[in-house]
Parts: sequence; structure tokens; C-alpha cells
Amino acid sequence: MTEIKFSKYPFGTKIRHHVSTNNYLPIEELKFIPESYPEALKTIDWTSLFANGNAPKYLDIGCGRGKFLILRSFELSNDNILGLEIRPEPVNWINDVVEGESIGNCRALHYSVANNMPFVESNSVNEIYYLFPDPWNKRKHYKKRAFTAKFVSECHRVLADDGKLFLATDVPEVHTYQINLLSKTGLFDVKILNSRDEWQLPVTNKERFCIRKNIDVYRTICTKVKPSVGG
Ligand SMILES: C[S@@+](CC[C@H](N)C(=O)[O-])C[C@H]1O[C@@H](n2cnc3c(N)ncnc32)[C@H](O)[C@@H]1O
Repeated sequence: MTEIKFSKYPFGTKIRHHVSTNNYLPIEELKFIPESYPEALKTIDWTSLFANGNAPKYLDIGCGRGKFLILRSFELSNDNILGLEIRPEPVNWINDVVEGESIGNCRALHYSVANNMPFVESNSVNEIYYLFPDPWNKRKHYKKRAFTAKFVSECHRVLADDGKLFLATDVPEVHTYQINLLSKTGLFDVKILNSRDEWQLPVTNKERFCIRKNIDVYRTICTKVKPSVGG
């Protein structure tokens, strides 16, 4: 595996923990669109993002500071991975590292998944990672959660047959909320893991913090259930 000296890439600007509330909402729910709102892209020219010009087969949703995204790209040398992130600062930083290290199969995009992923073709993605989402625990903040019935259905649409959605969180309420929602939709076979042994994936920035502090992590692997004929 390629080694990167991340210290070569200092963060130039302070990274905010969150952006303003409107940025988390779907564009059609807004009365006015803030200047900082991520562009609600409908199409993407993949040749502008990836060396081989192909669409990504792996998506890291809410990629944050991108350690997982970059390490995962090393394991997928022939396939592309795209990180989607609502905060612009980590996106710029990740893409600086990607360019500085000439990593052709990895990119981060300033984008909110509240607007679905219309630029991703149906049945085209092998794996989606949704790791350590912001918990938004207070009822008044629920509307900022990206994990909604619409999101689950969008993940189901873009995943190929037998494609997988990987979930991890350290917040028990978020784990329960996600499992209940998945079970209501019936779109995935859900397997809750008892240990990290079955999780063959690099450690994320947040996961590293949890491991260091001995915080329990809930990991789930969801396999796309094929739509029935005509369904
Ligand atoms: C707690 S961080 C976890 C980051 C990374 N996955 C990790 O495990 O270290 C959650 C990330 O999701 C991003 N996020 C929240 N809502 C989003 C949305 N609607 N679209 C894209 N990214 C979002 C946040 O900005 C933040 O970077």
C-alpha cells in the first residue's frame, strides 16, 4: 500500500464542524438558496474527475477529512471511489492530497446527498459507505439527517445487484433509527456485525478516535435486495 505523509498537506483553513441548517435540506424545500449551498448537480463528466474517465463504483457518503476515502482508493486500484461531502474545506484538502500524490482513482465532491445522486447511474455501484454520520440527536435537528427513506431508496437504486451499503456509528440511537428505517423499506438484507473482524475496511478518522477512546461502534452491512419483476 502507498504511504502518504499527510503532514505534507497542512489544513490551510479551520474546518467547521457543521454548515448552516439550510445546507442540509433538499433544494426544493428552500425559499432561498444560500451562497454556500453545494451545487445540486444533475450530471458529471467523469473524465474531469478520474484518470480512467470511468464512473465511480464506490461511494463514500459524508467522507469528512477523507482518510478512509484515500486509503480505500489504494485497495481499488482499477476502480474509482468518489467521496461526497457537504463541507467545502475537507473536500478541497482531500483533492489537494489526491492531486499532490497523483491518485487517479479518488476524488471528493462538494455535494449534499439530501438532493439524491442523480449523476450516478442506476445499478452501477458496488459499495456505498455511510460511516459515522452526524447524529443530530435533538428532535429539532432530525431534519438535518441525511439517512431518510428517500436516501435508502436512492442507495438501492444506484447499487448493482448484490451491492452493499456499509453503515457504522458510535451512537446507539442512530444505529436503532437506521435499522428500523431499513427494516421498514425492506430494500436490504441487514446484517449487524458483532465485531470488527468481518469488516474488511480501512479505519476512518472518526473510527480511529472511537478505537482510541474505547467507544463501542455499531457496524452493519446491508445487501441490496433485488427488486421483484415489475417492482
Ligand atoms: C462525523 S463526520 C464522519 C466523517 C467520516 N465518514 C469519518 O468516519 O471520519 C460526518 C460527515 O458527514 C458530512 N455530512 C453530513 N450531512 C451530509 C450531507 N447531506 N451530504 C454530504 N455529507 C454530509 C459531514 O459534513 C461530516 O463530514
